[in-house]
Amino acid sequence: MASAFTAAAFLLHFQLLLILVLLPPSAAQPGFISLDCGGARDHTDAIGIQWTSDATFVSGGQTAQLLVQNGLQSQQFATVRYFPADNRKYCYTMNVRNRTRYLVRATFLYGNFDNSNVYPKFDISLGASPWSTIVVDDATTPVVEEAIILAAAPTLSVCLSNASTGQPFISTLELRQFNGSLYYTTDETRFFLALSARINFGAESNDSIRYPDDPFDRIWESDSVRRANYLVDVAPGTARISTTKPIFVSINEEPPEKVMQTAVVGQDGYLNYRLDLEGFPANAWGVSYFAEIEDLAPNETRKFKLEVPGMPALSKPTVDVEENAQGKYRLYEPGYTNLSLPFVFSFGFRKTNDSSEGPILNALEIYKYVQITMGSQDASIMASMVSRYSQAGWAQEGGDPCLPASWSWVQCSSEDAPRVFSITLSGKNITGSIPVELTKLSALVELRLDGNSFSGQIPDFSACHNLQYIHLENNQLTGELPPSLGDLPNLKELYVQNNKLSGQVPKSLFKRSIILNFSGNSDLHIVNKGISHTILIICVVIGAIVLLGAAFGCYFFTCRRKKKSHEDTVVIAAPAKKLGSYFSEVATESAHRFSLSEIEDATAKFERRIGSGGFGIVYYGKLADGREIAVKLLTNDSYQGIREFLNEVTLLSRIHHRHLVTFLGYSQQDGKNILVYEFMHNGTLKEHLRGASEEKITSWLKRLEIAEDAAKGLCSASLANPYLYIEYGQLAATFLNVKWQKNRYRVSPHRMLPNNHS
Ligand SMILES: *[C@@H]1O[C@H](CO)[C@@H](O)[C@H](O)[C@H]1NC(C)=O
Ligand SMILES: *[C@@H]1O[C@H](CO)[C@@H](O)[C@H](O)[C@H]1NC(C)=O
Ligand SMILES: *[C@@H]1O[C@H](CO)[C@@H](O)[C@H](O)[C@H]1NC(C)=O
Ligand SMILES: *[C@@H]1O[C@H](CO)[C@@H](O)[C@H](O)[C@H]1NC(C)=O
Ligand SMILES: *[C@@H]1O[C@H](CO)[C@@H](O)[C@H](O)[C@H]1NC(C)=O
Ligand SMILES: *[C@@H]1O[C@H](CO)[C@@H](O)[C@H](O)[C@H]1NC(C)=O
Ligand SMILES: *[C@@H]1O[C@H](CO)[C@@H](O)[C@H](O)[C@H]1NC(C)=O
Ligand SMILES: *[C@@H]1O[C@H](CO)[C@@H](O)[C@H](O)[C@H]1NC(C)=O
Ligand SMILES: *[C@@H]1O[C@H](CO)[C@@H](O)[C@H](O)[C@H]1NC(C)=O
Repeated sequence: MASAFTAAAFLLHFQLLLILVLLPPSAAQPGFISLDCGGARDHTDAIGIQWTSDATFVSGGQTAQLLVQNGLQSQQFATVRYFPADNRKYCYTMNVRNRTRYLVRATFLYGNFDNSNVYPKFDISLGASPWSTIVVDDATTPVVEEAIILAAAPTLSVCLSNASTGQPFISTLELRQFNGSLYYTTDETRFFLALSARINFGAESNDSIRYPDDPFDRIWESDSVRRANYLVDVAPGTARISTTKPIFVSINEEPPEKVMQTAVVGQDGYLNYRLDLEGFPANAWGVSYFAEIEDLAPNETRKFKLEVPGMPALSKPTVDVEENAQGKYRLYEPGYTNLSLPFVFSFGFRKTNDSSEGPILNALEIYKYVQITMGSQDASIMASMVSRYSQAGWAQEGGDPCLPASWSWVQCSSEDAPRVFSITLSGKNITGSIPVELTKLSALVELRLDGNSFSGQIPDFSACHNLQYIHLENNQLTGELPPSLGDLPNLKELYVQNNKLSGQVPKSLFKRSIILNFSGNSDLHIVNKGISHTILIICVVIGAIVLLGAAFGCYFFTCRRKKKSHEDTVVIAAPAKKLGSYFSEVATESAHRFSLSEIEDATAKFERRIGSGGFGIVYYGKLADGREIAVKLLTNDSYQGIREFLNEVTLLSRIHHRHLVTFLGYSQQDGKNILVYEFMHNGTLKEHLRGASEEKITSWLKRLEIAEDAAKGLCSASLANPYLYIEYGQLAATFLNVKWQKNRYRVSPHRMLPNNHS
């Protein structure tokens, strides 16, 4: 007996299993996505909905079992996925068909999953649009949110964010694709519909009606379930009626027949209800569903009007169900597509004086219009970019890059349609070339891609006019530094050290106050031509030392050697300002602007020539205050244009070092470009080295000190890239016939020195 029973039970079970297994998953529920959040296994519930694990639809979060048993037996409510209570957002991303209407439903059953008994409060959003605030106030009753939205992209995301209490969590997430146009509204690109009430009146049980009775799996709540302040103030004489006869429900999305087969009637001539509409006052979409399901005699009529306190206009039309629906057992669905409703919504239907029967009501739906937030202007660019990294966690954050909270590695502006202004993807182990999408983010200010394995060339960022900080260091980038980088008007930092870049550093990068670090790229060199101005100035400085004869008696010889600093950065300091402001800018520096007449007076119209070079001739002068000066009159082809000259003046004016001759000022007038230095007595260094002067320097140690001190002076001019360091060191050493090798000096007297000095 017992075994037969078991066998029968087993058979039954087996048959059930077989049926379930035979249901082809996609064909059974086309257009359905049913995610069991936190669930590990796919399963089918009692009404035949196939639930799948949410793991592949969301990035991050942890799963937990509910600790409080709930009345709902369903497996999909036994687990949750929960997220950290931080300022990020956590998104589910589902594939949809663009321009198709969907029902989205999310449920939240707390069940003390975190064993803290703190009822969480957080926000949910549909894409970038705030949808609802989830307020849990009961561990065993799920909070349910439903929305109807027209998809405007190939994916739809639901995001959890802004936890104000507890941790954000979710139990289930469902997507149902609509077929028809019942929920068409005139402004679907600006608003979506959030469900406020969907009620099946006259329901025969407390159970909701949903799938498979409703092919779109809308949940039609029973009007017999009592919720606090919801569906109260029911009028006396309200009776439930039902039929088993078929109801003609013509169009796809009409309420299911089962919903229309029950109704309430107002036997005393009226029906009254009160609904608390969460999130109201707001604009609402509301439709009532009527079907005559009583067999009225020919002399009986049912005519009634809607009554809403304070809204007399709504009472104008008369409903005559049978006439309006063109027959009994047929649907009639009057409604209002845009109605401003209060939080406490009282409504009723009252029969007209010439009607023999009271009003009838089969079903009702009310939705709130929720504004669709325009997402980031850069959303599609960012979506295209992250689609390249389908395996990386950072690329799976989903939703809009900026709203309602930005991706963890993105910062956005706060305008209505935010722009991405900062991207930080440091140390994310990213390979391949730098995604070209980044060059289309025209509002980008900061780009940090350092510490990855990016390879290939640096793309052209010239469309990103606002870029200030570019960090590409510690990658595998090859090719040249694009010259367009130097044209970025706001660039402040360019870090490309430790890559495999080659070629020459574009001249344009030295023009402004750009902090440039390009060390560790063995094949990347300073552009010879581009650097020439700077080199020339260095030559001026060195020339000043060498030719004007620096006061090296006490000056060089008493100075002590100090440990050399090896800063690997070139700071070419001159603010990027408009031309007009350069004069005032320079004036605030220590460089003085001399008038040409002042210079002409001092030099007696360039009378005494004391030196010359490829870039100009040096004249002796004496200012009105008695100071002696060396005046360098630059040949015109050395400095083209006012801007470059002033750039160099600004640069020189910032060079202050005890080992360098002081730059006093400049003059630029009548096409003459003039640099003014302090005049050094005692002849030239060359003379001292070669023995023309009395204080001939013969000691190699002294010569070495001079070389080092000159290089130090140059270094302090913030020209401290190791490459430049060596370059200038070599430059200085050339004068002194000393070979510079980083920290070591190797004297090579036989190479350049005349024999008599060996
Ligand atoms: C989706 O449809 C809208 C409206 O036609 C269109 O503007 C948009 O470009 C489409 N998006 C995609 C990704 O196809
Ligand atoms: C986050 O939630 C708090 C409290 O619920 C609310 O005041 C605030 O406006 C929310 N912030 C955002 C960005 O939605
Ligand atoms: C959607 O519409 C198509 C044809 O228009 C129909 O075959 C299909 O059954 C409909 N789906 C649902 C769920 O009603
Ligand atoms: C329906 O639910 C109410 C509470 O909401 C309860 O009082 C009533 O007993 C339930 N009826 C049935 C048939 O379960
Ligand atoms: C309709 O007619 C029936 C008799 O055929 C009568 O009993 C009933 O009272 C009438 N109803 C009304 C509203 O006149
Ligand atoms: C509803 O009407 C109000 C004003 O009457 C208007 O501001 C709003 O845009 C309308 N909403 C929709 C969805 O048409
Ligand atoms: C219906 O009758 C009531 C009183 O019996 C009256 O106040 C009301 O104006 C009447 N309505 C119509 C539409 O005639
Ligand atoms: C980096 O990526 C490679 C594959 O591209 C992978 O094998 C490696 O484990 C990753 N390293 C880290 C630290 O994620
Ligand atoms: C420049 O890069 C090198 C190599 O990474 C580093 O050692 C140096 O500190 C950097 N300089 C600055 C100022 O960041």
